[in-house]
Amino acid sequence: MKNHYKTAEIILSALPYIQKFRGQIFVVKYGGSAQIDESLKDNFARDIVLLQLIGIKVVVVHGGGKKINSFLEQLDIKSDFVDGLRVTDEKAMEIVEMTLSGLINKQITSLLVRHGARAVGISGKDDGMLKAKPLNNGKYGLVGEITSVNDEVIKALLTSDIVPVIAPIASDENARSYNINADSCASAIAMKLRAQKVIFLSDISGVLDKNGELISRLNAQKIATLKADGTINGGMIPKLDACLECVNNGVGRVHIIDGRVAHSLLLELFTDEGIGTIIT
Ligand SMILES: Nc1ncnc2c1ncn2[C@@H]1O[C@H](COP(=O)(O)OP(=O)(O)OP(=O)(O)O)[C@@H](O)[C@H]1O
Ligand SMILES: [Mg+2]
Repeated sequence: MKNHYKTAEIILSALPYIQKFRGQIFVVKYGGSAQIDESLKDNFARDIVLLQLIGIKVVVVHGGGKKINSFLEQLDIKSDFVDGLRVTDEKAMEIVEMTLSGLINKQITSLLVRHGARAVGISGKDDGMLKAKPLNNGKYGLVGEITSVNDEVIKALLTSDIVPVIAPIASDENARSYNINADSCASAIAMKLRAQKVIFLSDISGVLDKNGELISRLNAQKIATLKADGTINGGMIPKLDACLECVNNGVGRVHIIDGRVAHSLLLELFTDEGIGTIIT
């Protein structure tokens, strides 16, 4: 009986959060780096199902960096990273799109469905949702900068209690494909939807300082300093740019959390302490 009381207490401790979050829109960026083992993937899917069942409108945007690397390597296609972005030529673009839109998008969608959610996997090409042009005049090849977001299809899915699972691929008026950094994709969608929260699930405990210690809170000024001295590099550069864009454009809260920790989403959302880094 004692244990049953404990269970009731634990469930009730989430009540204020559930009351607050009900009806809100959360964008969850599921990083390729966080899609590591099967049990973590199952936990992620169950967390999303739970969020959806308590009335949060969840949109999942995913990356797939690690899987893309392994396919490119197998096919002997070279791709370099500059400023944390994958320079993408036409050959690499085909693999990027196949991996993100064909493989990973459907894996995540079917996982959510298996755990009891209604989920539909799409890319930014579906319904002309994401339009793009070459980022920095083509400095990174077919890496695109999103020029417009048409959120009609996302809204239609959310209204029907379906979780949209979005692969970060966009197109231009000539139906050419662009590789969009998944973090920028999540931020563009969150801004358009005026989401209350964006949560980036990655493979690190949050943003780390020079000594490798977790920084719990960051603002634009601190980010600029850490970028200038090289503490922030690689994939963390576009991630923090995306975070700042969100906070400067009406998104309520932005979190970077550790996808390697089981149920990190629930820990961040339903406890006062939270985990990871909050960008304000
Ligand atoms: N100061 C920093 N603090 C934390 N991580 C950092 C820092 N600077 C660079 N990084 C790197 O950023 C990485 C996270 O970005 P990365 O793009 O690799 O993953 P992701 O965005 O989660 O996945 P994907 O790009 O596949 O969607 C970390 O694994 C870490 O190596
Ligand atoms: Mg990344």
